[in-house]
Amino acid sequence: MDITIWKNRLLHLPLGDIYLYPEVSSTNLVAEEKIKAGAPPFSLVVADSQTEGRGRLGRSWITRAGKALALSWILYPEPGRLQPETLGMLSGLAPVAVAEVLRENYALPAEIKWPNDVLVYGKKAAGVLVDVRWNGCDVTDVVLGIGVNVARDSVPPSEDLNFPAISLDEAAGKEISRLDLLVQIMESLLKWYSRLVEPSFIQSWDSMLAFKGQQVKLTTERGMRGQGKVAGISDDGSLILISEAGNETEYHAGEIQLRLVDRS
Ligand code: ATP
Ligand code: BTN
Repeated sequence: MDITIWKNRLLHLPLGDIYLYPEVSSTNLVAEEKIKAGAPPFSLVVADSQTEGRGRLGRSWITRAGKALALSWILYPEPGRLQPETLGMLSGLAPVAVAEVLRENYALPAEIKWPNDVLVYGKKAAGVLVDVRWNGCDVTDVVLGIGVNVARDSVPPSEDLNFPAISLDEAAGKEISRLDLLVQIMESLLKWYSRLVEPSFIQSWDSMLAFKGQQVKLTTERGMRGQGKVAGISDDGSLILISEAGNETEYHAGEIQLRLVDRS
């Protein structure tokens, strides 16, 4: 990453501070440090590589130097947008922004595996980690972490994965510029953040939802949470499943993992 070139390409966007690094532990951790040091809203942390990239529940996210995008965006509560009751929507913000960019700019069949992954051809091309900090019942700040597999060799070996992964270069059959992609993702994030509480946001999320009409199971660390046919996304960002008996249940993101049910 040429830090001057990358910074110049981001300067036209209404972001806060822009921090670019060759290597960090985790961009989400650096973002938390920046928040403590008083970073303004919409500040952005990007790194060429991460030594301790994180997924949910302490799982690790692998970012090979110069092969992928690893970024974290800093948000503070805003009336009508970022409040405890809109946090469910927030988990969809980055998947919607990334999936839309992949569809519109690269003609890739991107889908959102609820709650936090972007799939292309059914494989994980991007993952999102939302870290929320609270003071009592109030949200004090949010770090939206996004990892995207761009170059072919960005994908970790399959034995390190709990879900099949793909790079964008492999999916598109051509090289995709990480910098172009970063600028497009930030533009899309800004657009959708301003529409987070509008019906068009849920409609968009719903329209890109993976496994619609298919049987899936939801699990947590403690075991099975639910099973049913994927019906869609509810008004607050929950996943709606329909049971065999035809009953609808809504699930909030939490620490849920989603898998297709193998009926073969
Ligand atoms: P899942 O992907 O299992 O449905 P999840 O979306 O919550 O669940 P996490 O557990 O937060 O995923 O993500 C970390 C997991 O992602 C790791 O356990 C690893 O299997 C996988 N992983 C790590 N690095 C990459 C990468 N660069 N590309 C794709 N998957 C990765
Ligand atoms: C997932 O597995 O689905 C979530 C992965 C999130 C990875 C990104 S990379 C940038 C940011 N920094 C991290 O340590 N994690 C997130």
